[in-house]
Amino acid sequence: MKILITGGTGYIGSHTCVELLNENHEIIIVDNLYNSKKTVIEKIQNITNKKVKFYEADVSDKNRLENIFEENDIEAVIHFAGLKAVGESVKMPLTYYRNNIDSTLTLLEVMSEHNCKNLVFSSSATVYGEQEEPVYVESMKRKEPSNPYGKTKAMIEQILEDLSISDPEWKITLLRYFNPIGAHKSGEIGEDPNGIPNNLMPYILKVAIQELPELTIFGKDYDTKDGTCIRDYIHVVDLAKGHIKALEHLTKATPGTYIYNLGSGQGISVQEIVTTFEKVNNIKIDYKFGPRREGDLPGFYSDASKAYKELGWKVEETLETMCKDSYNYIKNQKQ
Ligand code: NAD
Ligand code: WQD
Repeated sequence: MKILITGGTGYIGSHTCVELLNENHEIIIVDNLYNSKKTVIEKIQNITNKKVKFYEADVSDKNRLENIFEENDIEAVIHFAGLKAVGESVKMPLTYYRNNIDSTLTLLEVMSEHNCKNLVFSSSATVYGEQEEPVYVESMKRKEPSNPYGKTKAMIEQILEDLSISDPEWKITLLRYFNPIGAHKSGEIGEDPNGIPNNLMPYILKVAIQELPELTIFGKDYDTKDGTCIRDYIHVVDLAKGHIKALEHLTKATPGTYIYNLGSGQGISVQEIVTTFEKVNNIKIDYKFGPRREGDLPGFYSDASKAYKELGWKVEETLETMCKDSYNYIKNQKQ
C-alpha cells in the first residue's frame, strides 16, 4: 500500500515508518521539521534498508499538499503531524489551535479532492478527560481535556466523526495513545526533545546522562499504591505496530469511524518507573519528591481489549525493555 505519513520524522511517526517498511508498504513522509530532524530519514532507511520519499512541507500548505497528492498515488494517510507539548499549549493556545486544526482540515480537504478517504489519526488518552473510573474504555464519552493541546485532539475527533457521517465513503480510525516511551532496539531513533523535557522518561534520560542533576517526582500523596501517579506506559515499537494492525483492519472494514485505545492495559507508578530504570540499566537516578503538578490526574490506564479483539494487537514489550531501550537510545546519541 502507498501511505502518506504526516509527521513521519517525529518520535512515533519514525517508528511507525520502520514497521510499515518492514511490512513492505511504500511510504511518503511529509514533515515541516518543526520538532524533528531530517537525519531521521537516513536512520529509517538504514534500519530498514528501504527507500523513503520525503517532502519538507507544512501540512497546512494546501498547494504543497495538493502537489504531493498529484505526484503520488496515495491510498491511505496516517496523520501524526501536530504540536504536542501540554504546557506550551497553555501558553500559546492560538499556535496550537492554528497548527493542529488547520493542518488537519487542509489534509482532509486535499484527501477528499483526491478521493483518498482512508485515514488513521493520532489521538490521545487525553480526550477522556477525567473519568469516574481509572480504566478508560472506548465506550466512555469524551470529557473536556484540561489544556488546549488536549482540546485540539478532542476537536479533531469530533471533526472526523462529522466528516464520516457526512460522507459515508470515509474510513477513519482514531487511535488513542496512552504514554509512549522506549525506542527502537537499534538505538538509532527515539525521543530526545530540545531543552528541559516535560515528560517523565525524557527527563529521567537527561538525569541518567548527567545533563540534569535530579528528577523531581511530582507528588507522593496520591491515593495510589505508593503515593505517586499511575499511568499506562507503552513501548513506542508496540505502538507503531498498532498502526499496521489498524491499517490492515481499515482496508477490510466497512466505512465509518473506529476508535481504539493503544495502551498496555497496566497501571504503572512514577516510582516504579524510576526503580525499574535503575535496576535494568544498573544506574542511579537522583530524585526528590516535589509538589503535585497542576493538571495531573492521579491515575488512569487503558482497557486495551478492543484493540486485541478487533485488530489482533497487544503489547509485546515490558516495562523492563521500555526502560532499557530508552537508555540505549540516549547513550547511542551521545557517542
Ligand atoms: P513529535 O513532535 O515527535 O512528532 C510530530 C511531528 O509532526 C514532528 O516531526 C513535527 O515536526 C511535525 N509537525 C508538526 N506540525 C506540523 C505541520 N503543520 N506540518 C508538518 N509537520 C508538522 O510527536 P510524537 O510524540 O511523535 O507524536 C505524534 C502524534 O501523536 C502527535 O499528533 C501527538 O499529538 C500524538 N500523541 C503523542 C503522544 C506522546 O506522548 N508522544 C501521546 C498521544 C498522542
Ligand atoms: C507522566 C507522569 C507526572 C515529569 C502527557 C500528556 C498526554 C499525552 C502523554 C499526548 C505524571 C510524572 C513527569 C517529571 C514527574 N500526550 N512526572 N516528574 O502527563 O501522563 O501525559 O503525555 O497526547 O496528553 O498530558 O505524561 O510523561 O508528562 O508524566 O513526576 O519531571 O510522570 O506527574 O504522573 P502525562 P508525563
